Amino acid sequence: MLSRGWRVTGCDISASMLALARGKAGEGAELSVADMRELPFFGGFDLVWALDDAVNYLLDADELAQALSGMRRNLAPTGLLLFDVNTLLAYRTFFAETELIERGGRRLLWQGQAAPDMPPGSICEAHLSVDDASEPLATHRQRHFPEAEALEALDGAGLQCLDVFGITYDGIPRRPLDEAVHTKAIYIARAAG
Ligand SMILES: C[S@@+](CC[C@H](N)C(=O)[O-])C[C@H]1O[C@@H](n2cnc3c(N)ncnc32)[C@H](O)[C@@H]1O
Repeated sequence: MLSRGWRVTGCDISASMLALARGKAGEGAELSVADMRELPFFGGFDLVWALDDAVNYLLDADELAQALSGMRRNLAPTGLLLFDVNTLLAYRTFFAETELIERGGRRLLWQGQAAPDMPPGSICEAHLSVDDASEPLATHRQRHFPEAEALEALDGAGLQCLDVFGITYDGIPRRPLDEAVHTKAIYIARAAG
């Protein structure tokens, strides 16, 4: 977005993730530590997005409502909101499977803990470890948000859903979202009224 000439503001709850972002963006973007459940007012933005696996770290409908209300407060009157969440398929496969990832001479082990038939709306975990370590480096804890719940949360936050897409690993957005076929759902919304 910076190279396309946009003014960019970013936030994350993790200072170390922001340090990585700072490494990529240089001084071109304003970056702040912030929890999306208690978003400060950064300004009125033409586009607010939370893409590629951020919203799923919210663990219940109240947290989703808080985050969407904060994003709504940061929208310009004609601004758009864009976010994604993982689908049932993603939790029943990626979060239920073990995968060995070899990159840059390091071996990382992803161990999904979810059941392959986990019910919609469940919280799922996956452990990420260095291959030979006994303790996981990180545990990823995420909640599945079914489409009906996401739409209800948007409505409750004063947002009008404009469209919902599903994507698979080819990254091409398609309608209608099918939680048994797509790995991510993408929502586009704007302030209601
Ligand atoms: C899977 S990462 C994706 C990061 C980003 N999409 C990227 O491609 O670099 C998820 C991010 O969400 C952040 N996160 C999780 N819960 C958050 C919260 N409550 N508020 C703000 N950021 C949060 C994590 O710190 C992490 O950086």
